[in-house]
Amino acid sequence: MKLLIMGPPGAGKGTQAERLVKELNIVHISTGDMFRAAIANSTEMGLKAKGYMDKGELVPDAVVIGMVKDRLQQDDCQSGFLLDGFPRTVEQAQALDKNLQDLGIKLDAVIDIEVPLDKLMARLTGRRICKGCGSSYHVIFNPPVVADKCNSDSCGGQLYQRDDDNEASVSTRLNAYMEKTKPLIDYYKAQGIMKAINGDQDIDKVLVDVLAAVK
Ligand code: AP5
Ligand code: MG
Ligand code: ZN
Repeated sequence: MKLLIMGPPGAGKGTQAERLVKELNIVHISTGDMFRAAIANSTEMGLKAKGYMDKGELVPDAVVIGMVKDRLQQDDCQSGFLLDGFPRTVEQAQALDKNLQDLGIKLDAVIDIEVPLDKLMARLTGRRICKGCGSSYHVIFNPPVVADKCNSDSCGGQLYQRDDDNEASVSTRLNAYMEKTKPLIDYYKAQGIMKAINGDQDIDKVLVDVLAAVK
């Protein structure tokens, strides 16, 4: 299955993606995670992206488009993938369509996780992420069993807060979403593959709705 998950910052894309890829046995391609890995490894691309990300601005299209194009050509994408956080601009969406066409691939569905904007700030400023496996937690909405430690037996990693989960960066991210990414809802509606999901309910219930929409 070839899927795309979109929604504003904090909608729960990563939280659902983590569960969906296990359920559907497909690979998770998160451009945000790829940039954070590049930053951790101090690559040239990571250093370039960090300035934009910390402020909450989008990384330039050319950088992201090239990175995803390379990723989609890798063997593990053959049996299915879930794109998370890409595309984020009309230019990126058009480039993706072209890449997929060249690869002879069609998207099965685009999942749009809808959450009222006034709930997103609290979700993001309270988010904690596992250094080991990247799982998302929340200090109130999805707390770990042991404070600051990942629940997964195989992991137990330390939780940390993302550099862009502060009020100023979140405001910039929300503005970037409204201006550049929200228009993609109509772009994919026009392709007839858009599935709108209510993201303002329990994490498990959102997953049930997403699975029902794509199966
Ligand atoms: P990226 O990493 O994609 O961040 P984002 O889009 O801002 O989205 P988030 O990851 O913050 O939110 P999410 O929807 O995944 O929420 P989560 O599941 O964690 O991108 C970061 C940056 O990289 C960008 O700002 C940009 O600079 C750059 N970038 C990346 N892709 C790019 C692109 N294509 N083009 C240009 N630049 C790009 O959940 C959030 C919190 O809510 C968690 O604490 C979670 O536990 C909690 N939560 C989740 N679901 C629920 C629920 N149902 N109820 C209550 N709480 C919930
Ligand atoms: Mg995410
Ligand atoms: Zn972990």
